[in-house]
Amino acid sequence: MNTRVQKAINDQILKEASSSYFYLAMASWSENHGLNGTAKFLYAQSDEERFHMLKLVKFINERGGKAIIPAIEQPPVEFDNLEKVFELLLEHEIGVTESINNLVDICLQEKDYSTHNFVQWYVSEQLEEEASARGILDKLKLIDGDKGGMYMFDRDLEKSTILNVPTETNSAK
Ligand code: FEO
Repeated sequence: MNTRVQKAINDQILKEASSSYFYLAMASWSENHGLNGTAKFLYAQSDEERFHMLKLVKFINERGGKAIIPAIEQPPVEFDNLEKVFELLLEHEIGVTESINNLVDICLQEKDYSTHNFVQWYVSEQLEEEASARGILDKLKLIDGDKGGMYMFDRDLEKSTILNVPTETNSAK
């Protein structure tokens, strides 16, 4: 495997693993604040990021490279409020998108077209994840801390979790 591409994918493995831990911390915080629907959504997001990481690990190993399972920094324990949680989530996803774009660039520079093709799945996924985070943030801004609104929001997010869980059929392997 091209060493520069392999290094970039290993860097991406760290990003996906960190995302999984970050969202796990957000899920746990939400659960401790009575937001069970939001917690379910974020636990599912955390699982999805782990799936993104695994896909990269397998991709490297199946091509005779060596995937590196990285150490992960401890994510925050406390968050100011739910709006802040989703602001951080969106900010984080924007950073992940930049990193995926960088990986696409490296594939093109190294003329590694099969990895370039593989990475396109992540390009689409990032579009969806950023749009989802923006949509959630817009709703939270509208609600503006109203208790009834928060109750409905939490219930709605629980329902959307059912649609978002990665499965063999709605996620590329
Ligand atoms: Fe896998 Fe949301 O980045």
